[in-house]
Amino acid sequence: MTSRIDEAKAILVANDRGGYTVPTDGLYPFQWNWDSAFVAMGFALYDIDRAFRELERLVEGQWADGMIPHIVFHQKSDTYFPGPDVWRTHHAVATSGITQPPMFAVALRTLHDRAGDGDRARVLPLYEAALKWQRWWYRARDPEGTGLVTLLHPWESGSDNSPAWDVALARVPTTTETPVLRKDIGHVNASMRPRDDDYARFIHLVDIYARCGWDPASQWDKAPFKIAEIQTTAILLRAGEDLEYLAKRFGRIEEAAEIAALNAKTRSALLGQWRPDLSRFVSRDLVSGEAIDAPTQAGFIPLLALDLPHEITEAMLGEMQNWTSELKVPFPTTKPNAPGWEPKRYWRGPAWAIINCLLVEGLLRNGQPDAAEALRRSTVAAIEREGFAEYFDPVTGEGCGGLGFSWTAATYLRLVGDMPHP
Ligand code: GLC
Repeated sequence: MTSRIDEAKAILVANDRGGYTVPTDGLYPFQWNWDSAFVAMGFALYDIDRAFRELERLVEGQWADGMIPHIVFHQKSDTYFPGPDVWRTHHAVATSGITQPPMFAVALRTLHDRAGDGDRARVLPLYEAALKWQRWWYRARDPEGTGLVTLLHPWESGSDNSPAWDVALARVPTTTETPVLRKDIGHVNASMRPRDDDYARFIHLVDIYARCGWDPASQWDKAPFKIAEIQTTAILLRAGEDLEYLAKRFGRIEEAAEIAALNAKTRSALLGQWRPDLSRFVSRDLVSGEAIDAPTQAGFIPLLALDLPHEITEAMLGEMQNWTSELKVPFPTTKPNAPGWEPKRYWRGPAWAIINCLLVEGLLRNGQPDAAEALRRSTVAAIEREGFAEYFDPVTGEGCGGLGFSWTAATYLRLVGDMPHP
């Protein structure tokens, strides 16, 4: 009988397209940025060479200005929309024009620590790519030096369809230059995917930025959607900590100091987004100037990158328990029964293994081993019951979205093998 561990590894083999892993066949047939970081951390447990390869292939898509795009189109495929002809970017390897949460440096440190100093020659060029990308975030996405980074497209959050974007996205027109061809709903049920109007808005934004020639300064001026976002900022800070650690290991003293200064600025900016009345952190809509208080998982992700005072951690934990008391599979990406809550539609309620993994790490960091262990166990149990689905309905536990999903498989390997547990 094959074990779930063997099945997870078999999924990573099946989704391999030559040193990089597609998220799942059909629905996502290219290399996705943060998926590859999670996949590399899974590979690092048993095949360090393949783990490095995953990151090296992603860096083939890095732009001259330092951005690592959210999709690298290594090969052609007609099962996905929007493809390279819609993005109209100018990189030698075709890519999209937006980015995704910078888990790359976090993965790189994990690989470094597994590989030991023997693989320094392999780590160093990837460290340099990660540093270029870190600088890009601060230059292109925080030009006013606030310490928080801004997303210009919902897809940059990785939580593409979250209710956190509803108010800001509603201001974006549904007109497009590019005809919208929904291919996603040919792969999975339309009730699990974004609605047509929102898809048109996603493409409207792509049209605007393509017209800016993907120049960050003109995009910043023209963007109708600008969110100073806490999940991405928390991941950026965690990436900054891991980069600072690597810089010190490599004797790059000036770079270590540069990164440490950025980290310090972001640390205090992120803390400033704490909302005691809501017991979670909130993002800010830079177009309206208002706080985004839609209740989503993003409000708890700062646990990953901050050493919080005990009272704050306790308040967050209490709030997290309020959200999960009736659920079969925590952690929901939207608070149950809040406006926008849809337990099967992606990012509007479902539980995702990668998000749970970030929360497990954040709870451990902040001295909550029991809550971390409960979340680790329930995530493992959900996957063992339903298989390696893209995400899970938190009420029924049903596996939803795409199946045979790479980051669910890789994260399962980490949750059973790598995360501290009794
Ligand atoms: C969806 C998710 C995004 C992920 C991609 C590939 O677009 O919202 O986070 O990277 O699928 O799995």
